[in-house]
Amino acid sequence: MDKAPFHHQRLQNRSLFRSPLPKLVLWSILFIVILFLFFHFSPTSQSSSSSSRIDRRSLRTSAAWGGAAWEKRVRSSARIRSSHNHHGISVLVTGAAGFVGSHCSIALKRRGDGVLGLDNFNDYYEPSLKRARQAMLERAGIFIVDGDVNDAHLLRKLFDVVPFTHVLHLAAQAGVRYAMKNPSSYVHSNVAGLVSLFEAAKSATPQPAVVWASSSSVYGLNKKVPFSEVDRTDRPASLYAATKKAGEEIAHVYNHIYGLSITGLRFFTVYGPWGRPDMAYFFFTRDMLRGKSISVFEGPDHSTVARDFTYIDDIVSGCLGALDTTEKSTGTGGKKRGSAQLRVFNLGNTSPLPVSQLVGILERLLKVKADKKIIKMPRNGDVQYTHANISHAQAQLGYQPTTDLETGLKKFVKWYLQYYDPSSSLSKKGRSGGGGSSSFL
Ligand SMILES: NC(=O)c1ccc[n+]([C@@H]2O[C@H](COP(=O)([O-])OP(=O)(O)OC[C@H]3O[C@@H](n4cnc5c(N)ncnc54)[C@H](O)[C@@H]3O)[C@@H](O)[C@H]2O)c1
Ligand SMILES: *[C@@H]1O[C@H](CO)[C@@H](O)[C@H](O)[C@H]1NC(C)=O
Repeated sequence: MDKAPFHHQRLQNRSLFRSPLPKLVLWSILFIVILFLFFHFSPTSQSSSSSSRIDRRSLRTSAAWGGAAWEKRVRSSARIRSSHNHHGISVLVTGAAGFVGSHCSIALKRRGDGVLGLDNFNDYYEPSLKRARQAMLERAGIFIVDGDVNDAHLLRKLFDVVPFTHVLHLAAQAGVRYAMKNPSSYVHSNVAGLVSLFEAAKSATPQPAVVWASSSSVYGLNKKVPFSEVDRTDRPASLYAATKKAGEEIAHVYNHIYGLSITGLRFFTVYGPWGRPDMAYFFFTRDMLRGKSISVFEGPDHSTVARDFTYIDDIVSGCLGALDTTEKSTGTGGKKRGSAQLRVFNLGNTSPLPVSQLVGILERLLKVKADKKIIKMPRNGDVQYTHANISHAQAQLGYQPTTDLETGLKKFVKWYLQYYDPSSSLSKKGRSGGGGSSSFL
């Protein structure tokens, strides 16, 4: 940049400085310019402009909703199939194109409940997998509305069209380490999105009961095992965990002020068919089949990292158990009429296993020797050990996990090979093998 003109200007203006008033004016102008520059380039204004960019991008898809045909699809998807042995419920499932959401939606529909899905199909992981789950739900008669939970108009419309008895709120930004790359996506979906959902639910007539996914990560640096619901949850180790903990506090507010019936479920490392590609069991499988090395974390002093791996079908029964035991919300027209139910439950398997054992099982199932790189677990959000005390869920929800890791992973691997590599020798017995599966990914 050429500084000469400015310098020249200053020399010319030197005579002005002899009187104090123009000097004051000049300094004031300079001050205003600095203020302007500060607010224009400050980190807060940048993050707010980037989050409004997220809003626009992710809310854009929902422009397509509305109209008579659309409403008809919504109603028909949410309609309860009456049967003599099951008193059906009508559920709005957010995050329905996600891992847990797709399984829960199918299970509800299968027993005759009305289900309407909502998902923004974001690209945190391969959207094609979300679309494939959507196609599966479509075949079961479930419509997933393409939209964001932050879209208040859309939510109001949905509650206008269908008097949902329940909301199963699973839409969220998941993943622990990604929070360092894209922190605002956690605030957008897990904090703002949750508030938007509760706002719509409390204003709806009738108010639905809400069951939503918190996370075992709220236990953070807690050392006492197994983790019980009454244990401390005020030391989160990741932004993800902090937003889930914030969600539990926000739930308390909406229960307290508006009489919303709310149940939070702290899931422990859920795995299974149609799972999430960002989770270790999933990308270990992918990398092992491709002959790539895998990084296995260890704790301080070569201690093991362990997880209370919980099979998806067990989580689904927990979610349905939670939905079936909700009491009604007590408010109407956005006003509280009496106290309402507020619960939180661990949903885990109660048998933590070291990650090395997970790898061992995968080696047997895939018939591949893993090229393991043992690395120190970075301090960026993951905790070393999780173990759920599920006695509360057992007593209140009739929750009883039945699938061990070996059995569950067998089902996952079977699905994986069929989904990514339908011609694999491992997935179809009797077919002569065409080498590894790596070429199909
Ligand atoms: N899978 C686990 O091990 C685990 C453990 C603890 C908690 N949870 C929680 O369980 C819930 C479901 O997890 P999952 O494993 O199925 O994850 P997932 O990412 O597969 O599903 C979440 C879905 O929500 C959608 N979504 C995200 N933000 C949205 C928004 N703003 N508006 C609309 N849709 C949005 C995504 O597109 C995705 O399809 C999440 O709340 C997650 O935090 C999962
Ligand atoms: C599990 O939690 C219950 C309370 O829900 C408690 O009574 C019990 O002692 C806990 N069990 C263990 C092993 O900590």
